[in-house]
Amino acid sequence: MDSRSELGDGTRAVRAGLPEAVKNEPTLPGPTFAAHFHLPGDPTGPYTYGRDENPTWTHLERAIGELEAPGAEVETLAFASGMAAISAVLFSQLRTGDVVVLPDDGYQALPLVREQLTAYGVEVRTAPTAHDAQLDVLDGARLLWLETPSNPGLDVCDIRRLAAAAHTRGALVAVDNTLATPLGQRPLELGADFSVASATKQLTGHGDLLLGYVTCADSELAAGVRRWRKIVGAIPGPMEAWLAHRSLATLQLRADRGCANALAVAEALRGRDEVSGLRYPGLPDDASHELAARQMRRYGCVVSFTLPTRERAERFLAALRLVEEATSFGGVRSTAERRGRWGGDAVPEGFIRLSAGVEDTRDLVADVLRALDESSVR
Ligand SMILES: Cc1ncc(COP(=O)(O)O)c(C=O)c1O
Repeated sequence: MDSRSELGDGTRAVRAGLPEAVKNEPTLPGPTFAAHFHLPGDPTGPYTYGRDENPTWTHLERAIGELEAPGAEVETLAFASGMAAISAVLFSQLRTGDVVVLPDDGYQALPLVREQLTAYGVEVRTAPTAHDAQLDVLDGARLLWLETPSNPGLDVCDIRRLAAAAHTRGALVAVDNTLATPLGQRPLELGADFSVASATKQLTGHGDLLLGYVTCADSELAAGVRRWRKIVGAIPGPMEAWLAHRSLATLQLRADRGCANALAVAEALRGRDEVSGLRYPGLPDDASHELAARQMRRYGCVVSFTLPTRERAERFLAALRLVEEATSFGGVRSTAERRGRWGGDAVPEGFIRLSAGVEDTRDLVADVLRALDESSVR
């Protein structure tokens, strides 16, 4: 444990990954744009070729590691996107003949990953996130993949319980920590081997870049992921990495406001007759709340609910003024969309995923309620 692990989230977020102060140098050095580095003689590190390492990544990776596992020795690897990070773990760890357990209600690109894994001779089993159902199909697995809270259904599974069960059976455990962010949940402390995320979402939070990362404590596992990044070359640009690091300074502020706004929106929606299937892990009567309260420190900024028909949902989205109709989530500006329009998730036509931004709570709730009223009239 270093003394930084005892600091509050806001303090750690503003200082995460910063190099030692050097007179006349900036606090966070600017992005290093380099395909190669001066390298006379033997090719020794840390910086040789731009696909392997870059000082801007190093600062960001240290920062994310400090947030994912305060005080612990971990390695973090940054990737060009969340999918690049997810694929790096799955494809670096799994071999033909292995068994992997995925959630059947996770991010909508997972079925594509499933197809690819199957094509390579990996057996893919799936089960829902709720009720720790992945436990039932774990025997013989090499890797268990969890996504909690799940996107877009917002079910929660017990990371500690599932990780212990997987380890007893000799399986590795990876958790997609995108929705929670490291300030909401620390999968490695709960027993996971890998914490993986799309940093495109709330971690960076401005909707202006794509990025992903993998954090793990075991250096051999990290070496496999690093090797995969080198082979595939799914590396982040220095500008994206620098913007991401810059954005971390406000993570606690954004996460707290997003969480408070999501709760306020969920509470407002709860009183509406036309809303069904309302989910937010922070709502005390949500099916996931008890478990979420045990393993999460913040409940995220995403609320999901269903309006009676596709047309009603479309009218609602069109009537919103402060909430942009867009995919993705976790940005400073609230967004919402009808998930059924993509065709990938098993959700009703009127299902809406709303991501609460950092607007004033009163304004956001008023906008949502007004749009509900207006959309009730044809
Ligand atoms: C839970 C989750 N994991 C991973 C991803 C993929 O991230 P990216 O779009 O950065 O590749 C997403 C994207 O929406 C997601 O919601």
